[in-house]
Amino acid sequence: MLSNLAEIEQEINSFPVTGPDELENFRLKFISRNGLLTKLFEELKNVSREEKPAVGKKLNEVKKLAEGKYNSLKEQFDDTTSAKETIDLTLPAAEFSIGREHLISQTLAEMVKIFREIGFKVTDGPELEEEFYNFDALNTPAHHPARDMQDTFYVQSKVDKDKKYVLRTHTSPVQIRTMLANKPPLRIISPGKVFRNETVTFKNYFMFHQLEGLYVDKNVSMQDLKGVLAYFFKKFYGEKTKTRFIPSFFPFTEPSGQIDISCFICGGKGCKTCKETGWLEVGGCGMVDPNVFKSVNIDPEEFTGYAFGIGMERITMMKYGIKDIRTFYQNDVRFLDQF
Ligand code: PHE
Repeated sequence: MLSNLAEIEQEINSFPVTGPDELENFRLKFISRNGLLTKLFEELKNVSREEKPAVGKKLNEVKKLAEGKYNSLKEQFDDTTSAKETIDLTLPAAEFSIGREHLISQTLAEMVKIFREIGFKVTDGPELEEEFYNFDALNTPAHHPARDMQDTFYVQSKVDKDKKYVLRTHTSPVQIRTMLANKPPLRIISPGKVFRNETVTFKNYFMFHQLEGLYVDKNVSMQDLKGVLAYFFKKFYGEKTKTRFIPSFFPFTEPSGQIDISCFICGGKGCKTCKETGWLEVGGCGMVDPNVFKSVNIDPEEFTGYAFGIGMERITMMKYGIKDIRTFYQNDVRFLDQF
């Protein structure tokens, strides 16, 4: 029995335990009620009287050894399991996002900076606008076919029954407000939201942003208009950018133009983005129509002026290769965080 115990002692020492499952096997094999040691204690009664003290002593030692190994390992494993459930202060902290400026706000800030540097002042006007400023004063009377160019959200006021309100369809009403409140010379820009009752697609959204420009002084010419826009787009897209003007129509400018810039993807050679034309449309412009001057009491014989409106989502989509205008307004941080 003594040699048998020595063997078991060895077995206990070398029994591999690397996890809680093996530890349980260890317990079952040696210490449990049906384990090896319990059986040996039962067999003790069969040992001769002479041998009994030595065997009993050894058996107790072996039992202590097994229990000692079991307890210390159990403590160790319990420690690691409980550690999993508490906070490990040595781990790096979880990242959190402080957010960032919306891409359109970034474009707005950039545009304002460029125009400010060349003497334009920033003004603004209401988004809920009187029909008078949005249309009539801009040489677009009721039933003028040009009103159909912009699908309008009309708003009924319960308080002010005489006035008709719209969600402004462009930033041009700010021209009127500025000229009524100030005497020329005037050199302003006015960025902001505009609204059109359009079917939402990848190209169109019911709300977007424009930046309006207006310069009124003596002897303002078409050359000044072209110069300032060419300057702006070079600053915004890079020195190689070309600007061209093609005839267009707006009731509040005469002559009127569409502003195109050379495609910044292909440099004007023609590609998918510019539909092989080499050019991309970015806004409208023209010389302030004498009728507009009359509606704000500025003498068209004394003053001339230019105005322009640039689509901010458009120029941002082009700059960053964004294909769908809706992504600006879905508030998906995975999109917004990229810029
Ligand atoms: N307001 C016009 C539009 O929304 C753009 C424009 C602005 C055209 C100023 C001429 C002068 O389409």
